[in-house]
Amino acid sequence: MQTASQGNTARPFASPSEPLARTSPYVLAISSGKGGVGKTNVVINLAVEIQRRGLRVLVFDADMGLSNVPILLGLVPEYNISHVLFGEMRMKDVLFPGPEGVTVLPAGFGVQEMAALTEEQQLRLLCETEELEEDFDVVLIDTGAGISPNVLFFNIVSHDNIVVVCPEPASMSDAYVLMKILALQYQRKTFKVLMNSVKGESEAALVLDRITEACQRFLGVSVRHFGNIPYDTHIREAVRSQKPVVELYPDAPSSQAFSLLASRLLSSIPDDYPVGSLQFFWKRLFSSDVSEWGGDPSHARPTLVRT
Ligand SMILES: Nc1ncnc2c1ncn2[C@@H]1O[C@H](COP(=O)(O)OP(=O)(O)OP(=O)(O)O)[C@@H](O)[C@H]1O
Ligand SMILES: [Mg+2]
Repeated sequence: MQTASQGNTARPFASPSEPLARTSPYVLAISSGKGGVGKTNVVINLAVEIQRRGLRVLVFDADMGLSNVPILLGLVPEYNISHVLFGEMRMKDVLFPGPEGVTVLPAGFGVQEMAALTEEQQLRLLCETEELEEDFDVVLIDTGAGISPNVLFFNIVSHDNIVVVCPEPASMSDAYVLMKILALQYQRKTFKVLMNSVKGESEAALVLDRITEACQRFLGVSVRHFGNIPYDTHIREAVRSQKPVVELYPDAPSSQAFSLLASRLLSSIPDDYPVGSLQFFWKRLFSSDVSEWGGDPSHARPTLVRT
């Protein structure tokens, strides 16, 4: 068994020049219905752009068992979240330095047991993240694709949700299903939709109109257009080079879009988001008072997280 002193962390956390005026980070889940639409690229490039703006960013690779983040960044972490979930290491000891000061919490690769976290593992995860509260300003969670219990869990313990959609029918319908479950069973009332691999503004607008209308009419939720990332071969080259496109090709169209989105994201963070991030939502889920945070008490028990 590994000990904490042998962990991944090799550097002190960077000091932000302009931290959020809060003691706990803003937590954002990046999800999609369909796989392969660009979530991991969105997470790592947004992370670098936010870190460049002086905030301390944790990339939380929650794609349990399929861990993409280290692969896209060319990192080979020795330890990962499975060591935390199986009680072998502390969270802070499996953090790994990523690009430009970003910190990465790697998911395990090929660890079948993590495909659906047990309730005990979820609780351990949330307790462990409490120790990191003061070290980060923003946490970006790459949830993986689909509507598995893990994906739903990470979505409901986050302050906000970005759903990545690309302009193809399966991506749209799968995104709708994800938002439907989060809205009807877990009272998520707003979503940010990010259109990726966009080849034309009119195509993106058409897709967005369809999703927005369906969500409003059938789910009663509001879908905000977070922005577009153009289809850009530089991203494919960056993936092959295992570097973020914003680092390798800072002037590429996609890099410019990521820069704009990072600024937009930071200016959209509310001043009064709940302190305690992940734990806050966990406690709300177990309390009878979820209505305080826009929830329905009849859904107070986290049935979805039972595995
Ligand atoms: N804007 C874009 N333009 C061109 N190619 C893109 C773009 N975004 C992503 N890609 C390509 O799409 C592929 C999938 O991207 P990525 O791994 O980020 O998707 P994902 O949603 O995280 O996938 P998974 O669901 O398997 O985790 C990559 O090969 C990447 O190069
Ligand atoms: Mg991915």
